[in-house]
Amino acid sequence: MRRTPVVAGLAAVSLLLAACGSDKNESSTPSSTPAPTTADSSAPVETTAGGSTDETSAPSTDATETGSTEAAGGAGGDVSVFTWWAAGSEKDGLDALVKVFGTEFPNDKFVNLAVAGGAGSNAKAKLASDLANNNPPDSFQGHAGAELSDYIKNGQIQPVDDVITELGGSATFPQDLLDRLTVDGHVYSIPSNIHRANVVWANPKVIKAAGIDPTVVPADIKAWIADLEKVKASGIETPLTIGGTWTQVQLLENVLLADLGAEGYSGLFDGKTDWASEGVTTAIADFATLLTYTNAAADGDDWPAAIDAVADGTAAYNVMGDWAVAEFNSKDKKDGVDYTYFPTPGTDGVFDFLADSFTLPVGAKNEGGAKDWLRTIGSAEGQKAFNLAKGSIPARSDAVAADYPAYQQTAIASWTKDTIVSSIAHGAAVNLAWGSDISSAVSKFYAGKDQATLQADLVTAAQNNAG
Ligand code: BGC
Repeated sequence: MRRTPVVAGLAAVSLLLAACGSDKNESSTPSSTPAPTTADSSAPVETTAGGSTDETSAPSTDATETGSTEAAGGAGGDVSVFTWWAAGSEKDGLDALVKVFGTEFPNDKFVNLAVAGGAGSNAKAKLASDLANNNPPDSFQGHAGAELSDYIKNGQIQPVDDVITELGGSATFPQDLLDRLTVDGHVYSIPSNIHRANVVWANPKVIKAAGIDPTVVPADIKAWIADLEKVKASGIETPLTIGGTWTQVQLLENVLLADLGAEGYSGLFDGKTDWASEGVTTAIADFATLLTYTNAAADGDDWPAAIDAVADGTAAYNVMGDWAVAEFNSKDKKDGVDYTYFPTPGTDGVFDFLADSFTLPVGAKNEGGAKDWLRTIGSAEGQKAFNLAKGSIPARSDAVAADYPAYQQTAIASWTKDTIVSSIAHGAAVNLAWGSDISSAVSKFYAGKDQATLQADLVTAAQNNAG
């Protein structure tokens, strides 16, 4: 099917709750003008929050939004923040946030506790040990949805209802998103962004050279496999790139979504779809076929290299969340010229969702400072600065699509009209233990390529962990 052109001048599009769970069939997936990056990437490990330059947006003057500490410049003291945005375009996003934090709360000193490794592949273990040792950061990055339930169940994070109320509650954030952050009537984190996990990133020159029209999106996984075969026949050794295990989990998640459809996919998490079903068997077979077109990967291989291979034309495709657009942009690659994108074949009209979200740990040493950080996370200024740099779209409903580059405009349009499903690889659909069992199953599959064993392991993972 053909991609639709950019809807120019999408003004004041709300990232609204009405969209969540809606069932529309079109997805805007254009490729067009270059998307600028805006962040200053030079934040030191420790940053006194004052002294931001005039490039930063002015602080909000809305007292109901920013709370009482702003008047005094913030609670003061160190505010230690744990993320896995340690390098490259992810650090650019974090730096953009820190800059706004500095403007809004000059008394506070940002302390960067980032641990490198995409999708939190290294960070989560360090965080678990810090939490277990009663040495929490003042705030940490988590994913909206199932992943947060572990921290809540373990009594490791506390409600932030007061901050969400100051920020405007459901007048500011989509109700469906708030629902994913709420347990027993309390909101447990402040979302910074929405990412989309079902995007194929492609090099248009490479696929054109293989005889493929880069403006035509394959209808389903099988049609895409036919294109991968053409790319291979054209002499490209790696038609599709992968990284370490979590990127393979994300690829499998995309294939499950494509082959089962949104309803069948979502049913995997509430028991309505059997992991032992034929649909899953088919998806695993397609996943296995896709892996025959990829590079060899070691478990720790991170995602930027998989995107860089597409950017430099040594590979044709990568399936990655839309943090990828920030990587292309950081290499000065041009949207529509050097890279293009479309929903993973078979998933058009579906938005595979995840959201980064910041918490207030029990035992945080500087709760006041942590709440200042959360206020910045939730502020219009913070979200705009961060999401422009990160490739994601704001979690706030009042974002203006026209403020964003072409890719994010398509994501905003899709978010408002597509069917929303939850990502496995990024903590929205499954809790930490289930996610970890799925990762082990995929890692074992990568080594042994035994499809029946993968399906049996996925069945066991569901049996052991499904709520
Ligand atoms: C996070 C993104 C991050 C990506 C790769 C995801 O789990 O939500 O913010 O860019 O991992 O590290």
